[in-house]
Amino acid sequence: MNYSLIFNNMFTLPLLPYDQAALEPYISVRTLDFHYGKHHQAYIDNLNKLVAGTELEKETLESIIKKTASDPAQTAIFNNAAQACNHAFFWNSLRPAEAPAEDSQLKAAPAITPELSTLIDSTFGSLDNFYAEFKAAAVSQFGSGWVWLVKDGKTLKIIKTANADNPWVRGLKPLLTIDVWEHAYYLDYQNRRADFVEAILRHLLNWPFAEINFR
Ligand code: FE2
Repeated sequence: MNYSLIFNNMFTLPLLPYDQAALEPYISVRTLDFHYGKHHQAYIDNLNKLVAGTELEKETLESIIKKTASDPAQTAIFNNAAQACNHAFFWNSLRPAEAPAEDSQLKAAPAITPELSTLIDSTFGSLDNFYAEFKAAAVSQFGSGWVWLVKDGKTLKIIKTANADNPWVRGLKPLLTIDVWEHAYYLDYQNRRADFVEAILRHLLNWPFAEINFR
């Protein structure tokens, strides 16, 4: 038996940390089915094809990203490795939506942890100001990209990156991200990127994940 067929180093699609319906009504099953099942899967499949037989084949995703980020000859590998990584981080930046309130009032904002709540207030003035700045960054990102809440020393910062670029290659530590590629929202929100980002900010952000990343 050729064990190399079994014990290979193929990258695989990580499991979603929730059911595909868990983000509704803010992100539909249909969107997640395409975004996770088709787009994220394609980055993984492309990466496996691109690194097969190369010295990068046995490297970790993080190592591949750092080694290829500034090499124009390896842009395709970087793009697919970074997108594989960015999407895994994005799924974990979200948490299941709460059940609709019976009185049909707006759902409460996700519970932010006390330490981050203090930092959000001292950095941005208030949680609502943070939402506004994050949304402004998302709307002003020209074309495809990502918006990130990152750790900046002992405080916080919002940054945006184009295409597959991410904070890791800049030596920054991300806490949360929102994917603002059109494939992330077009089926549910068409061209209304701001509405998509607003819905995530107010209903789906996984603050406990951010807290773990901040430590
Ligand atoms: Fe995406």
